[in-house]
Amino acid sequence: MTTTEDFQVSVKAAEQYEARFVPAIFAEWAPLLASIAGVGTGQAVLDVACGTGIVSRTVAERVGPTGRVAGVDLNDGMLAVARRLRPDLDWRQGDVAALPFDDRTFDTALCQMALMFFPDRVAALREMARVARPGGVVALAVPAALNTQPAYGPFVEMAVRLTGPEAASLLGAYWACGDLDALCDLVTSAGLEVTDTWTHLGTAAFDSAVHLAATEVEGSPLVERITADAYAAIRAGAEDVLRPFVDPTGRLDAPLRGHLVAGRVRAR
Ligand SMILES: C[S@@+](CC[C@H](N)C(=O)[O-])C[C@H]1O[C@@H](n2cnc3c(N)ncnc32)[C@H](O)[C@@H]1O
Repeated sequence: MTTTEDFQVSVKAAEQYEARFVPAIFAEWAPLLASIAGVGTGQAVLDVACGTGIVSRTVAERVGPTGRVAGVDLNDGMLAVARRLRPDLDWRQGDVAALPFDDRTFDTALCQMALMFFPDRVAALREMARVARPGGVVALAVPAALNTQPAYGPFVEMAVRLTGPEAASLLGAYWACGDLDALCDLVTSAGLEVTDTWTHLGTAAFDSAVHLAATEVEGSPLVERITADAYAAIRAGAEDVLRPFVDPTGRLDAPLRGHLVAGRVRAR
């Protein structure tokens, strides 16, 4: 499996990502990922493709002052926001293909909602295992397949219809690791032993359907790729296709299904 999408954004979009996407969607998954990985007091934890750092911040509370947390991401804009929020944590610019850490540096390596953007996913998982100690854990969270998403399925179908192939490529990439069996096969192919899997039905909670559309566009690379007319059409379309998930006050609670997988690093 390969992708040409790597979710690169400007500092402005990274601020939008932190202000809108993180509270609406990603904050819910970070404690689940920490739990499936068994993160606890005193551990050294790496957050791969950390974005603006929600997993790192969540994990920092769990490992406490005797632990250590580092976040690595390709994108300087994301890291600028991460650093602004938690200057005390260790933020590094880097590619998952060649993580800037020695072998066996961490007890746990986590990756939330990013595996689908890596061009070589098995190599990325091997690299995460390399920087973890034998007996340590590599754990992932990814969105489940689009055909299992009651709200995002119709939303993405509508948005792809209204936009060009570049937008469609990003909107399709989010779901590329969403088959749980195939995901476990990837983890096994990287030499890890799958120890636990969960499928969780989360909630993408927004002030309105239009807010979901605005966040999906302005907090992602889409903002650079679509015309003002296409953006207006997506906002209008969102009100239509997401109506079943909107309450009488206009608030949206859109179901978002995802998979979490934990793998143990083998002795080497
Ligand atoms: C959807 S965001 C997820 C960020 C964060 N994990 C969270 O839960 O909010 C995807 C992130 O993957 C990063 N990314 C994509 N390809 C990468 C690579 N090859 N190495 C490191 N980071 C990468 C992007 O820069 C972006 O910050």
